[in-house]
Amino acid sequence: MKIFSSPTELQSHIVNLKKQGKSVAFVPTMGNLHQGHLSLVELAKQKADIVVCSIFVNPTQFGPNEDFDSYPRTLEQDTKKLEQVGNQILFTPTNNDIYPQGKEVHSSVEVNRLTDKLCGASRPGHFRGVTTIVNILFNIVQPDVAIFGKKDYQQYLVIRAMVKDLMMPIKIIGAEIAREPNGLAMSSRNGFLAEQEKKQSSYLREVILLSQKQLEDPKKDINEVKLQACKLLQNKGFKVDYFEIVERNTLELATSNDNELLIAAAAWLGKPRLIDNLEVNLN
Ligand code: PAF
Repeated sequence: MKIFSSPTELQSHIVNLKKQGKSVAFVPTMGNLHQGHLSLVELAKQKADIVVCSIFVNPTQFGPNEDFDSYPRTLEQDTKKLEQVGNQILFTPTNNDIYPQGKEVHSSVEVNRLTDKLCGASRPGHFRGVTTIVNILFNIVQPDVAIFGKKDYQQYLVIRAMVKDLMMPIKIIGAEIAREPNGLAMSSRNGFLAEQEKKQSSYLREVILLSQKQLEDPKKDINEVKLQACKLLQNKGFKVDYFEIVERNTLELATSNDNELLIAAAAWLGKPRLIDNLEVNLN
């Protein structure tokens, strides 16, 4: 596996590969790789000749009181895991490589829809940070295809909107959520769960599945489903950030006329804030 930390060196390497007619699939990550990330690399391998994975804990997508400093950084283990799954290029820039003028004065990219809801409402500026870094990474890696996990469903939609609005010639693929044996969506933040919380964590998925069942009842009251889910999670020790049932493409609150729904939840369990979601098709 080739490892680059310089944006310009990677950029010219990719230009050469493209001249040879190679296609490029890209998996952007913040590292601390788990099976979920590795399954994105496996999927990327099926989509192009060359797979590039990036590891960069992006400061601009963390709020002032969030976990940027404590975010797990495990580059050595990550590198081994990527070698094992046959990733070909690893990009590991520093903050200075990405934001040489300082992140405060760096130009940014903003998607003006989808970003003020759900995680965007509770993490102001988060999606500006995400779209800015993904844009920078896209300009360096020049991928034909990029893979995003659907655990961050809103991020996946926001990136799709950015690529469409800015007419970037990149196909965005959403990959299914990888889960722990107890149903918890895999996340680099799961490592912060204490032993007891690991057991409790399965309730997030269970409550989402219960809500799905309730939504399938034609007599359902969507608000009632949400309220009940919040109460169940609170009783199990979660501090709920949001539990929403939305139309899946717009993320607007779902009405009884909508058929393509997303149940989306974010809740703290001890230290980490866990997120999960489920696509629900009615009819
Ligand atoms: O999903 C993530 O890990 C990050 O938001 C991403 C896409 C790598 C941008 O920093």
